[in-house]
Order: sequence, then structure tokens, then C-alpha cells
Amino acid sequence: MLCYRLTDFHPEMLVLFKLLPVLLFFPLLLVQSLDPAFNDDVLGLIVFKAGLTDPLSRLTSWNEEDDSACNWVGVRCDQDTNRVSELILDGFSLSGHLGRSLIRLQFLRVLQLSRNNFSGSVNPILAQIPSLQVIDLTENSLSGFIPEELFQQCGSLNSISLAKNNLTGSIPPSLSSCSNLERLNFSSNRLSGQLPSGLWSLSSLRLLDLSDNLLEGEIPRGIESLYNLRAINLRRNNFVGWLPENIGNCLLLKSVDFGENYFTGTLPLSMRKLSVCRYLDASRNLLTGEFPDWIGEMRSLEFLDLSVNNFSGRMATTVGNLQSLKQVNLSSNRFVGSLPESFGNCVNLKVLDVGQNLFSGNLPSWVFKLALESVSLSANRYSGTISFPAPLLQSYQSLELLDLSSNALTGGVPSAIGNFSRLQALNISRNSLAGSIPASVGELNTTSVLDMSHNQLSGSIPAEIGGAVSLQELRLESNFLTGAIPADIGNCSSLTSLVLSRNNLSGPVPVAIASLSNLELLDLSFNNLSGSLPKELTNLSHLDTFNASFNHLQGELPVGGFFNTIPLSSVIGNPSLCGSIVKHSCPAVHPKPLVLNPNSSVSNHGPLSPNLRHKRIVLSVSSLVAIGAAVFIAVGVVTVSILNMHARTSMARSAAAFTFSGGDDFSPSHDTEANYGKLVMFSGEVDFVTGAQSLLNKDCELGRGGFGAVYRTELQGGRSIAIKKLNTTSLVKCQEDFEREVKKLGKIRHQNLVALEGYYWTPSLQLLINEYISGGSLHKHLHDRESAGCLTWQQRFKIILGTAKGLAHLHQLNVIHYNMKSTNVLMDFSGEPKVGDFGLARLLPALDRYILSSKIQSALGYMAPEFACQTVKITEKCDVYGFGVLTLEVLTGRRPVEYMEDDVVVLCDMVREALDEGRIEECIDKKLEGKYPMEEAIPVVKLGLICASQVPSNRPDMEEVIRILELIQCPTESQEELE
Ligand SMILES: *[C@@H]1O[C@H](CO)[C@@H](O)[C@H](O)[C@H]1NC(C)=O
Ligand SMILES: *[C@@H]1O[C@H](CO)[C@@H](O)[C@H](O)[C@H]1NC(C)=O
Ligand SMILES: *[C@@H]1O[C@H](CO)[C@@H](O)[C@H](O)[C@H]1NC(C)=O
Repeated sequence: MLCYRLTDFHPEMLVLFKLLPVLLFFPLLLVQSLDPAFNDDVLGLIVFKAGLTDPLSRLTSWNEEDDSACNWVGVRCDQDTNRVSELILDGFSLSGHLGRSLIRLQFLRVLQLSRNNFSGSVNPILAQIPSLQVIDLTENSLSGFIPEELFQQCGSLNSISLAKNNLTGSIPPSLSSCSNLERLNFSSNRLSGQLPSGLWSLSSLRLLDLSDNLLEGEIPRGIESLYNLRAINLRRNNFVGWLPENIGNCLLLKSVDFGENYFTGTLPLSMRKLSVCRYLDASRNLLTGEFPDWIGEMRSLEFLDLSVNNFSGRMATTVGNLQSLKQVNLSSNRFVGSLPESFGNCVNLKVLDVGQNLFSGNLPSWVFKLALESVSLSANRYSGTISFPAPLLQSYQSLELLDLSSNALTGGVPSAIGNFSRLQALNISRNSLAGSIPASVGELNTTSVLDMSHNQLSGSIPAEIGGAVSLQELRLESNFLTGAIPADIGNCSSLTSLVLSRNNLSGPVPVAIASLSNLELLDLSFNNLSGSLPKELTNLSHLDTFNASFNHLQGELPVGGFFNTIPLSSVIGNPSLCGSIVKHSCPAVHPKPLVLNPNSSVSNHGPLSPNLRHKRIVLSVSSLVAIGAAVFIAVGVVTVSILNMHARTSMARSAAAFTFSGGDDFSPSHDTEANYGKLVMFSGEVDFVTGAQSLLNKDCELGRGGFGAVYRTELQGGRSIAIKKLNTTSLVKCQEDFEREVKKLGKIRHQNLVALEGYYWTPSLQLLINEYISGGSLHKHLHDRESAGCLTWQQRFKIILGTAKGLAHLHQLNVIHYNMKSTNVLMDFSGEPKVGDFGLARLLPALDRYILSSKIQSALGYMAPEFACQTVKITEKCDVYGFGVLTLEVLTGRRPVEYMEDDVVVLCDMVREALDEGRIEECIDKKLEGKYPMEEAIPVVKLGLICASQVPSNRPDMEEVIRILELIQCPTESQEELE
């Protein structure tokens, strides 16, 4: 007996032996063998469990030492026999196969394993459990065919569900032998092929659900053998042919679903006998014919869906007999005429969808008298006006969806629309509605979708719209709306789509839109909106579609956020917009009046009052403006307006801040400086007086360098300033860093340094305002034919020493010049040199060697060799190198690099060679011939060469240079040092 069992159990016994302590198990088996039936249930279930994964440990009560399985979770026994009769493990999260061990449960009647993860095929062994009445394997991962053997002896099978698995193949014909089958559910698999004809003779069948498969073929005309049928669901298959003509003989049918197949023909006349039928769905087929008159006889009908077919003709008035009707969907057919008034008798109606038909006439007034929840009459031919017939309508309390879109409705939007207290979606788009949007839309505080687009609505968008606080989608496009977009729209904080395109809206884009933080779609295109786009829009982190094209927007496009990636098409058609996206660089400064920002200057006076005006120190900074605009000036002269500027009266602070105002008058600007340029003069007290017109022409350009062009401009009062327009825009740091660095540089004052007096900042234009030095550059004095009045030795020495002092001062303050060269040394009227353009590299985001060397390219010959060497740190010694070259330049009057016919002469090499060969005099500027002390000249040449050493550490620091120069001037024993 035991031996027989072991072999019989073959595969699972192996698992069993792994699982159970053999010594424990065998005595049990021997003892129990006296009662073989009892033994079989425990054994069968333990082996079944052994093949499963039980991640939630739901089967821990299943203990092989127990005498009986009757108290185990999910197990029920027959009271008389004490044998397991039901195994109910629905939703236990078990996975594994349906093993052979279940065959041991010979008295099992109910096997319910739904909502687990059983996989593999449906084991035909189940057919060998003679008493099995219920098999429920719904919602598992079973695959493969349904085995033919499963139904070979299924006399007792009452209910089988294999729904929601991955079963394939066809339904086995053996199914027809299950003569007691009442419930058959194979829905939601991938079953295919034709239905076995025997299916239609299963006269016990109450429920037949084969929906959501790939089944095909025709349904026999007569299915009257299924006289017990309560529900038939063949939805979503590939069935063809006519609906079963005798279906009406299945008198007990309550639910009929033939939807989403390819059925043709009409609704079978016999259906009129289905007087207990509540649910009829024949939607999405190819059905034709008229709406049946007899429908009124299906008195129990609650749900009727004939949508998406080819039904035509008029609606039968008998529909009014369907007092239980709750939902009707007749959409997408070709029904004509009007909805019968008798519909008004269907007092239980909640949902009515007759969209996409050819219904015409006035809107049916009964619709609003019923307590409907959802009404769609869209895409028909309804005409006339929208009117709500009575002051107190049932639907005011009930209607959640009203779709009247795509009809030919005229007249206005009734103000009573605000009475629908539960409305969630209102679509009246694509009609011919005129007049203005009633303020009562603000009462629609439950509404999430409001679509009034594609009408002829005029007037402005009422500010009350802000009351519709639940709005997620607001579409008003393609109307004739005028006026400004109300800022109250910012109250609709749930908005995800806001479409206002193709109207005549004007005024600015309200900043409030930027507070709609859920916004995903914003379309403002084709209006007359003006002003600039609020930069706060960049905060809209969910925005993925933005369109402001074809308006009159102007100014700079916001930078950052989604604006970094919007396509040109989003902003095209706004000629005055600028920014990189529209490929139209922003004129950083418009030739407009400049007014002091009152907030930062006259805090104790408030905005400028008229009596304060005369006290204003007026400054024409027109030239600044003109320089800013110079990029756009074609050629020649431009007259610029006089600019008003109010100097900071408070001397406590060192900087005076000014902002450009958008207005044409001289009124103080309240705009934030971020929108405009910012001008800061470090001196605080501005000594520019009296206004006069100023001209800027290209002659004012003093020169160009690696960092930008320099212009000279005259201020009222005759004082000149030099303005450097940085051409490194794209490289300049952010405003904050820029200002910090510039302010640092502005604090540096030394008689041999050009003072930085102020700056002007916009994101796209930066100007540095420098002290103007009248004498021109050292370069000009040395090399310009016309101006090269000969510099004397004393003058040259003074230049070298002064330059050294200027540089030493910078180095003391840890500022590296980076760009030493003769064009950056300016001469004042007394012949004192002043080093300018220092520290500009600090304004770049990083001391990038590549950028540095490309900016300093023009300084060929001055550039220290370490710039070319990635591994050597750039220190102030690079300035010492430049100084060395400059010293040699001053002494020789020759350029650091000179291009001869077929030769390049590098000054340092030439001088070094001459020194080595003892013919240094040949190098000294010919203009000095006989007019200089050799005992001074030679050590200065040597100093210059040492400073221009290849190795940075061989170069002296500037303090030492000064000491040496001073010693050379008053010769002592120091000379030996240099020999
Ligand atoms: C079901 O079981 C299969 C393997 O049989 C596994 O791949 C899948 O992840 C399981 N699903 C769940 C929901 O546990
Ligand atoms: C309103 O109805 C029209 C067509 O009838 C449709 O295209 C549009 O998407 C609907 N509006 C909303 C917001 O769903
Ligand atoms: C919008 O919100 C503001 C501030 O809460 C409120 O003053 C205003 O009345 C609201 N607008 C509307 C139309 O509800």
C-alpha cells in the first residue's frame, strides 16, 4: 500500500521528501494508513502546499502532523464524512502549478483559487475528482490550451471560471458533456476559433461569459435551448453574422451584451419578449435598421447602449414606457428627427448620450426637467438658443456633465448656467453662440472642464472666472473676446490647460498666470497681447506646451525653465520679442529716459515730488544708452534723448543705483530694476551737471581690446569718461557675481591705476565706466607715427617705474592683471602712466585658460609662456612677464613681435641675443641715441629680460622690481646684483 502510494505520487513525493523530516512522516503514514481516506486529504494538501510559493505565509496552519485538514485555513470539510469538500484560497497571493496532488481530494466539491498567481496549464487531473462542482481559477497566470480531458466526465460540474488568464486555443467541444453547467466564464483570455456547437444545448446554463477573447464565427439563430440563461456576454470578440434570432425565447435573460463585435442585421424582433432584461448592450457593431418600436415592451430595461452602429430613422416614442431606464447611449448612429417628448417620462434617467447623430430642432426641453447627471447632445444639428425653461429645474441639482458642443446653437450663453451647482464639465464649443460670457460662470465652483471655444463670443473674459476654482481645463479659443486677461484667473489654481488663442485679447499677460502651478498647456496665440512675458512664467514646472505666437509681445523672452527649450514656433509672430530663441538679440538699452530708482535713492522722500525735481542733479547718460544701442546703429551719428538721472542723496552708501524707466516722461520708475538695466556709479556723489544734447559717433571709439570696445563720452560739465563695452557677454558671470567683482575692482585706487568708476548691467550688455585718461595709450606714444613725439629717457623711466608701482599695488590686493600690454597703459597729462583694464578676467565665470588666451591673443608677445601650459598655475608672475616685455618695448621702441618680410622678430629673443653678444646699444630706441645714460639703460634692459624669464619662479615680484628700479635711478652697489 505504502509502496504503491510512493510510486503513484511520483513527482511530488520528491518535493515532499525534501520538505518533511522523513522519520516523522513515515510513522504518521503507517498509523494513518488504517484510515486511508483521512490520510489522503492531509497528504494531498501538504504535497499541494509543498509545490507552492506562499509569500504571505497564509498556509502556515497547514501542518503535516495534524490528523485532519479540516481546521486549516481555506479548507472546509463535509460534516458527515469529515473529508475535505471545499478548498477556498482566493487572493492568497500563491504561485506555483496546479499539481497532481489535488487528485487526492476525492471528495472535493469546490475549488476556488482565484486572484492568485498560479501558472502553467490547467491540469486535466481535475477531471478525476468526481464530485467537483465549482472550479474557479479566475485571475491567475494560467496559459496554454484548455485541455479537452477537463470536461470528459463533468457531470457534476456546475460552475467553471477560467476568466482573466492567458489561455489560448479554442474552447474544447467536450464542454457539451457538462450538462449540469450553470456558470461558464472564460472571459478575458486569448481564446480563439469558433464556439463548439454543443455549447448552445447546455440547457442548465445561466451565465455565459466569453467576452474579451478572440473568438469568431457566427452564433446560431436558435439558442432557445438555453432557456435558463440569465446573462450572456459575448462582448469584444470577432463574432460575425446576425444576432441570434430566437434570443427572445431565453425569457429569463436579464443581461445581454453583444458589444464590440462585427454583428450585422437588425435587433432581433424576439427581444421584445425580454421583459425582465435590464441590460442591453449592442454597441460597436455594424447593426442597421430603425430604433425598434417594440423597445417599450422591454419594461425592465435600465441600461441601453446601441452606440456606434448604423441605426437610422426616428426614435420611437415608446421609449417613454421604459420607466426604469437609467442610462441610454445612442451616440454615433444616424438617427434623425427629434428626441421624443415621451423621454420625459423616464424619470429615472441619469445618463443620456445621443451625440453624433443627425438630431435636429430645438434642444429638447425635457432634458433639463429630469434629474439627469450627464447629458450629451453634441455633434447633432440642434439649432435655436440654449434656454432653461423654468426657474427651478431638477437638473440644477444633479447635472454633472453637459455637452452641447458641435451643433448650430445661437443666442447667448444663459446666465442661469451658474445654477448648475454640481456641474463638472460644460462643453458648448463649436456652436454659433454670441454675446458675452456671463459673470455667473464664476459660480461654477465644481466645474473642472469649461469649453466655450469656437463660437462668436465677444466682450471680455469676466474677472469672476476666478470663482470657478475647480477648473482644470478652460478653453475659450476662436471667439471674438476682447479686453485684458483678468488677473483673477490666477485663482483657478487647479488649471492644467488654459487655451485663449485666436481672440482679440489685449493688454499684458498677467503675472498671475505664473501662479497656476499645475499648468501643462498654455496657449495665448493669435491675440493682441502686448508687453513682455512675465519672467515668473519660468516657474511653471509642469508646462509642456506653451504658445504665445502672433501677438504684439515685446522685450526679452524669459530665460530659464521651459523657456530654455521652447521651439521658435511658440513665440513666432511677435516682431518685438528678443532673445536667443527668436534669433533677435535684445537691445539691452532702449534709447529711453533714464530715471533713478526712487526706492533705492530717496527712501525718505518717497517718489519724487515736483519740488524735489529742481534739486535733482541731472546727468545726461545718453551716451551710455547710445553705446548700448550702438550695435543697432548702422553708421554715423545718432541723436539720443536727454536722460534724467537722480543722484543718490544718501552718502551713507557708496553706490548710486539707477534704473531705466519704460515711460517717456521723467516720472520715477517703480519697475524693478531686474526688468531694465542697472547703472551703478561708485562715487555716489555724481559730479555730472547740466543737461545738453550729446552726440555719439563712431569717432568716439577709443579702441578695441580682447574684452571689448572702449568709447569716450563727454558728460555735461565737460568731464569725459571712458566706457568699455564688454563683448564677452556670453561669458560674463551672473549679475550677483559680476557686481561683486566689479565693486571689488572699483575700490582699487592708485595714482598709477585707471579708476573704475561704475558699471551698467543687463543680462545682455555690460558696460564698465572708467576714468578717462587724456593722454592716450603708451602704445600710441611709442608706435604711432603721428603722435610719436619722442619720449625722453626720463619720461620712459617714469613710465616703467609708474607701471611697476601700479602692478605692485594690484598684486598687493591679490588682483592679477592678466592682460599687461602697452595699449593698457594710459598716459595722463603729466606723463604719469596709469594701468587700466585690470582684473577683467575675474568677470568671466571661470579662469579658463582657453578663454583667457583667446581674449589676450591680441597681446601676442606679452603672454607669459605658462598660459600655453596646462599644468602650471597662473599667478601674478604672468603680469611680471608682460611687464618685462613692456619694459623692453619702452626701451627699444619696438613692438614685442614684429613681422618682417619673411621673418618674425620676437623682441625678447632679439634683445637677449644682443646682450649676449655685447651690442645692447643697438637695441635701444634710435630716437634716444646719445641722449640716455648707458649705466641706467643696461640694468633696466637686464631687469626687463629677467622679468620676461620663461620660468615664472625666475621672475622677481613687482615689489622687488620697484626696489631695483629705484636703485638704478640712484646708482649704488646694487648694480652688481644684476650683472
Ligand atoms: C507570477 O508568477 C510568475 C512566474 O510564474 C512571475 O514571473 C510573476 O512575477 C508573478 N506575478 C506576481 C504578481 O506575483
Ligand atoms: C468639447 O467638444 C468638442 C467636440 O464636440 C471636443 O472636440 C472637445 O475636445 C470638447 N472639449 C473638451 C474640453 O473636452
Ligand atoms: C481671487 O482671489 C483674491 C484673493 O484671494 C480675491 O480677492 C478675489 O476676489 C478672487 N477673485 C475671484 C473672482 O474670486
